[in-house]
Amino acid sequence: MAFTLYSLLQAALLCVNAVAVLHEERFLNKIGWGTDQSVGGFGEEPGIKSQLVNLIRSVRMVMRLPLIEMATRRALKAVLIDLSGTLHIEDTAISGAQEALQKLRSAPVAVKFVTNTTKECKQTLFERLQKLDFDIQEDEIFTSLTAARNLVEQMQVRPLLLVDDSALKDFEGINRSDPNAVVVGLAPQHFNYNTMNKAFRLISDGAPLIAIHKARYYKKLDGLSLGPGPFITGLEYATDVKATVVGKPEKPFFLEALQSIGCQPEEAVMIGDDARDDVGGAQNAGMLGILVKTGKYQPGDGDKTSPPPYLICNAFPQAVDHILQLLL
Ligand SMILES: *[C@@H]1O[C@H](CO)[C@@H](O)[C@H](O)[C@H]1NC(C)=O
Ligand SMILES: *[C@@H]1O[C@H](CO)[C@@H](O)[C@H](O)[C@H]1NC(C)=O
Repeated sequence: MAFTLYSLLQAALLCVNAVAVLHEERFLNKIGWGTDQSVGGFGEEPGIKSQLVNLIRSVRMVMRLPLIEMATRRALKAVLIDLSGTLHIEDTAISGAQEALQKLRSAPVAVKFVTNTTKECKQTLFERLQKLDFDIQEDEIFTSLTAARNLVEQMQVRPLLLVDDSALKDFEGINRSDPNAVVVGLAPQHFNYNTMNKAFRLISDGAPLIAIHKARYYKKLDGLSLGPGPFITGLEYATDVKATVVGKPEKPFFLEALQSIGCQPEEAVMIGDDARDDVGGAQNAGMLGILVKTGKYQPGDGDKTSPPPYLICNAFPQAVDHILQLLL
């Protein structure tokens, strides 16, 4: 009973304190209880009012630290940016994107570039962006290949790599002899009976199956083409083993990208042109998602995710302006 009463008192005190903190000018000053209105003149008996105000003040002193901490924790610390479709389309930059990135750089936020590629190693991506005059560093790029490599290292396994030869560079230094795991990306030259059968046998013997992403198909210049998804699903079907998918829109992908810059999902925003993979995935991981109407964007894409995107804007520069004006 005593405990309950005490808790009640404590709760009431916290409410009073919240009112005092939030509405000192608007509320307390009006009724003559503000900080700068002297309470209890010299020599006066301290009344109920002054005692209460003093109590509020001392609680506020104690509460101030956590409040400050809460305020800083809520501030934006990182911006994740998709590459293809958001900063550039093939070898053309989105208009104004370089200047916008420069502007973002002058703000106190970390920037990370995240992409779903299975074909291009980090260096290739980096060189393309450099050629387009983007102010970017290679180690700021986080791809689904990096995520796969990190997972392989974490699991301490030796992978059979079914990835495009141009992606092998991102697996340099990984021991691949006598494989006990299977990693699958988009690898047209490896998707033949012999290699698939080798993968099948390894998985049947207990090797984990890691998918860089599971896209069903993608767009090539000469038409739609099979992605890695059907091949991964084929292996899953044959072995009854579920693949671990590491690319967007999986939650661990976003969390890992943030981990490398030491920040929490609530402190980050993702900008991308793919409503499901960029915006939906990021929001599912606890971040804010901004959808840009460039790249693969189609009218109505904003309805593809639930909850809807935090913001939809024309292009990357408008997304940056919004962040600088309203999120910092
Ligand atoms: C790679 O793994 C094989 C098989 O476990 C092992 O025999 C070999 O020593 C390893 N190589 C290196 C460089 O660690
Ligand atoms: C990225 O990976 C996801 C699955 O993890 C897939 O659905 C999506 O289509 C991929 N995006 C691209 C651009 O390949």
